[in-house]
This record gives sequence, C-alpha cells and structure tokens, in this order.
Amino acid sequence: MNGSPRILLGVTGGIAAYKAAELVRALVKEGAEVQVILTPRAEEFVTPLTLATLSGRPVARTEFTPEPSPTIGHIELARWGHALVVAPATANEIARFAHGQADDLLTTVYLAFAGPVVVAPAMNPKMWDHPETRENVERLRARGVAIVDPEEGYMACGDEGAGRLAALQTIAAEALWAARRSTSLLGVKVLVSAGPTHEPLDPVRFLGNRSSGKMGFAIAAAAAARGAEVVLVAGPSRLAPPFGVRTVPVTTAAAMQAALEREAADAKVIVMAAAVADHRPADAAPRKLEHKGESWALELVPTPDILAGLAARRPAGQLIVGFAAETHDALARGRAKRERKGCDLLVVNDVTAEGAGFEADTNVVTLIGRDGAADAWPRMSKRQVAERLLDRIEAERRSR
Ligand code: CTP
Repeated sequence: MNGSPRILLGVTGGIAAYKAAELVRALVKEGAEVQVILTPRAEEFVTPLTLATLSGRPVARTEFTPEPSPTIGHIELARWGHALVVAPATANEIARFAHGQADDLLTTVYLAFAGPVVVAPAMNPKMWDHPETRENVERLRARGVAIVDPEEGYMACGDEGAGRLAALQTIAAEALWAARRSTSLLGVKVLVSAGPTHEPLDPVRFLGNRSSGKMGFAIAAAAAARGAEVVLVAGPSRLAPPFGVRTVPVTTAAAMQAALEREAADAKVIVMAAAVADHRPADAAPRKLEHKGESWALELVPTPDILAGLAARRPAGQLIVGFAAETHDALARGRAKRERKGCDLLVVNDVTAEGAGFEADTNVVTLIGRDGAADAWPRMSKRQVAERLLDRIEAERRSR
C-alpha cells in the first residue's frame, strides 16, 4: 500500500465508547488516517469534539443534513476507507449489520463498503451469550467480517463474563492489518472452489460428502477484502455468498469443472478448496428408484480430476493451490498428491484432528510447497487460515 492506511472508525453507544478516544490515538500514532463515524447514542458516551480533536477530522454524525453537508456522505466515506472498524459494537448495531438495516450513517456505510470490516463487540455477558446475538455474530463472520472477540472480566454493570471490549492494541493491530492488506490483491482475479458436489442417483437422491464450504468461502471473502476480483464456484452449501464475490452455484463435479474451466483462463490464482466427489453413479435414473427390500449394487464411475486438469493446462504465471482431506499418513499422502496433481501449494488437512475438518470453524493444516517442504500451522480459525494462505500466495507471486 502506498500512503497511510485510511480507517473508518464506527463508534456505537455503549459504555465502552469512551475507549474509542484511546483507539483513535493508537491508530493515529501508527500512521493511520482515521475518520470517526459516531452513532447518535454513542454521543451520549463520548463527545464528537474529543474524537474530532484526536483524529484531526470532523466526526461524521448524521446521514442527512438540511444544508450542504459539512461532512462527506456515506458513499464518499465508503470509497475513502481502506477498512471499516466498529469499536465498540453494541448488540443492537451488530443486529442491524446482520440484517442489512441502513437507518443511521454507520449502518449505511457498512452496506456501501466493499473492503474489509472489523467488528469489536462490547456488551453485557448475557447479551453477548444470547442466541440472537450469537446468530448475528456468526452471520457477520460467515460474510468475512473479522470479529475481535470480547474478553472475560468484570463489567461496568457489575456482571462477570465475556463481553468486555477486547484490548485496544488487539483491535488496532487487526484494523491496521486489514487496512494495509485491503489493496494487496487489487486487479488480481482469484478463482476459488468450495463445498461438496452432489452426484445424483435419481431426482431425489444423491451421493455427497460432509464438506460445509466454510474454508473456501472464507478464502473467497478474504481475497475480496484484499481487493481481488473473486469468482467462487460453490457446490451445495448453506452459507450465504460472501459480499463482493461473484458466486457461481453448481451441483455436480461435471458442472463444477465446466464453471471452473470457463473462468480459469484469466485467473492469476486458483484455489481448489472444494471436496469434489471422486465418483458418481454411472447413470442417474430419470425417475425415483424403487426398492423392494432386496440389496442392489450401484455402479460408480470416476469423475474427472478437475485440479489436475487445470494444472496441466494452466497459462504461464498462474498459481494453483490444492487442498487434501486426509485421515491417515497426512504428510506423505499430501506430498505425493501435490506432485500427482501438479499444483504449486497443497493445504493438507487431517480431518480427524481435533478442531479440524468439515463442519468445524477452526482448522489444523500443513502447507506443502513445490520443494516438498512442509509448514505445519497451529490450530486457528478458518478465516485465519484463509488470511495466512493468502499471505503465502502473495509471497509466492512476488518471488516469481
Ligand atoms: N479434486 C478435484 N477433482 C476431483 C477430486 C479432487 O479437483 N475429482 C481436488 C480437490 O478440490 C482438492 C484436491 O483435488 O483440491 C485433493 O482432493 P482429495 O479429495 O483429497 O484428493 P483425491 O484426488 O480425491 O485423492 P484420494 O481420494 O486418493 O485421497
């Protein structure tokens, strides 16, 4: 990134809003330009004058002004920022983000902003634990929002538990990191596959696997937040398509192959995170199969190896990353698989490890490079795996 990171800092109305002043100072000290957006309720806790003085910019407060706006409108704000950071974020504001409401300046900017978003919640522990809040937070997380989880401790309200705003250094580091990376893949087309494939037996039955799509969706969202042009070819998944990503839904391995091959020619990076079925029923019956209690044999035929095909026909300079789900001898099998498939990097996943695998939110992976060198990463969230993988992809691209 050239120039200083530009951070939009949304401050919402909770007691922790007073800490926003320190956060502005910390960000400015690190060389960031900070534009504060204050919700009306936050003004009850911290004054616009304090935040304007510390940030050196007038605070953006209201969406509509009768006279020509003294501050810039929501679209200009959204264009200006490299990252949108909301700290503290109340349960109410999180709910409004999660449901796409746009009834104040901050929620409107949130909807208009295509870059990385960091949300640091702070609230009473019971509110943080409430299923509605959990669901809203998970919705945001699934869309690629980085949640800086609140900490445990005594709260201003006298309750104890998780809900206290995370340490300001942690929020500042996450904010700067997001802002600095927000343009690192600008103009780069990244093609990602995710989820399982379903291979039909008849109109109501299919062969599938337990992939949730979480890993591939996280990679697509993280690449989009770095400015990449992202196309996500997604097998059946319950996840909402990530924001700023062109999602192409597919069902079968054959459809996934067709979609990927259509998109591959101008892609600079391909990440095959999908769990593609290796076999499909030889014939999909046009009508529902009937069973009369006797056993029957199913004939399966292999599906094409999409990854190997893409790697064999890749244009010069294209970087290809494969994934491997293993249950045993993960490293040896991963090394052999990387060579066999011809990809540059292979992310090996021992799906039997604790905190790893299909439905989990965390993953434990080992990255295998072209020289066979293995880099074992500790257990981390799938979003963190996505970010670290993109860091590595960027480093590989630079070294070429
Ligand atoms: N893959 C693919 N096409 C297939 C099967 C797998 O493109 N028909 C890709 C996956 O997206 C993944 C990589 O190949 O990136 C490895 O997938 P995995 O299922 O672990 O490998 P398999 O080829 O199925 O090998 P095996 O079943 O022997 O473990």
